[in-house]
Amino acid sequence: MTKILVLGGDGYLGWPLALSFAEQGNHVTIMDNLAKRKWEMECGSMPLFEVFPIHRRVLNFKEQSGKEIQYFIGDVTNVGALYHIFDTANPDVVIHCAGQPSGPFSMRNRASAIITQENSYLGTINVLFAVQRAMRPVHLVVLGSMGAYGISGNIRDGSPEVDGGKEPLLFTNQPESFQQLANANVSVALSFASRNWELSITELRLGLVYGFWTTATSDVPSLQTSFYYDAVFGTVANRFSVQAAIGHPLTIYGSGRQERAFLSLQDMVYGVGLTVADPPAMGTFRVLNHFSEVMSVEDLSERMLAAAKRVGLTARVKHVPNRRVERDVHPCVLEGSQLKDMGLNYKRLEQILDENYFRTILNEKDRIDLDIMESYIPWRKH
Ligand SMILES: NC(=O)c1ccc[n+]([C@@H]2O[C@H](COP(=O)([O-])OP(=O)(O)OC[C@H]3O[C@@H](n4cnc5c(N)ncnc54)[C@H](O)[C@@H]3O)[C@@H](O)[C@H]2O)c1
Repeated sequence: MTKILVLGGDGYLGWPLALSFAEQGNHVTIMDNLAKRKWEMECGSMPLFEVFPIHRRVLNFKEQSGKEIQYFIGDVTNVGALYHIFDTANPDVVIHCAGQPSGPFSMRNRASAIITQENSYLGTINVLFAVQRAMRPVHLVVLGSMGAYGISGNIRDGSPEVDGGKEPLLFTNQPESFQQLANANVSVALSFASRNWELSITELRLGLVYGFWTTATSDVPSLQTSFYYDAVFGTVANRFSVQAAIGHPLTIYGSGRQERAFLSLQDMVYGVGLTVADPPAMGTFRVLNHFSEVMSVEDLSERMLAAAKRVGLTARVKHVPNRRVERDVHPCVLEGSQLKDMGLNYKRLEQILDENYFRTILNEKDRIDLDIMESYIPWRKH
């Protein structure tokens, strides 16, 4: 039995990860300061499915599975609380998902930009100190973002190269928001700490995650993860899928010719499982891109509309002005996938967006708020 500490375990990704590892018989502890629930209220966002309070989620999981998850309400930026939880949980593996995940939120104003650096970047420095002072070897797995590559073009798994240069460069980071800046800074900190303290660290650079089902959460409403479809916290595929389900135009920012990497929630969980099962040696910092497909936002919208049409739903696209500062046409070439080589058989979008998927969204029709899908945060000076 592996002892696993999930930082940010109340979140969209952290919660299904905690459930999955607990279901497999591991000893799982969650630490979360519930900040996301507060940020969500500030922005008027609301998850599509009701998200139960954490104590209720954990109780419901025990009733369903007979398995326990320990949880602590605590802030990773509070080093005393973090050390206490490390000493109590004594983890073999730490999965770090505690951060502020939204680009638009980070661009709201100065305070939100700073909150993002504090939670995502400075919090990670605390985590690194906690890992290096642990009494036994810990594998630190950090959920980073492919967004940190930003405007970079040709990216190779684990060692992106720039302009065909011979030296493999780990970091072709050119972030396009304060949130991506935090993720890029996190990468540099992980690399440094791994070299300096001989730590075993994997950074998983995730594509944009979509979907709400995992084997651990399906069919149990009270275990649902926090699925957002709004313009601040909802990723583009999640927003499109809700828009397609209710026949609302799929709102494309600008040309839609920005290419992005995508990843289903279920495959996100599988990939983290494979990563945990195969830790790098002490003193090794490993970067793995974790994505299933690369496509432009326009292609995503077409495939989404086709999937909706197959189950009798009709919608259309609508181009709206892009409030972000990003390349309007942005090719993204990704080579190699170590997680595929490690055995991950990624699903395509169409395998996730079946009839059941759209029906589950429509079951929550009364909770859908059209206003929160409108993009309103400008990237330029305000
Ligand atoms: N969702 C995606 O598509 C995606 C894609 C790439 C990378 N990521 C990264 O994965 C991580 C998790 O993303 P998510 O979508 O699950 O976000 P989320 O907001 O749903 O979950 C993050 C959790 O961390 C908690 N948290 C934040 N600051 C904390 C702190 N200081 N101490 C303790 N807990 C704290 C929040 O309360 C929340 O429950 C983020 O770092 C994000 O950048 C997400």
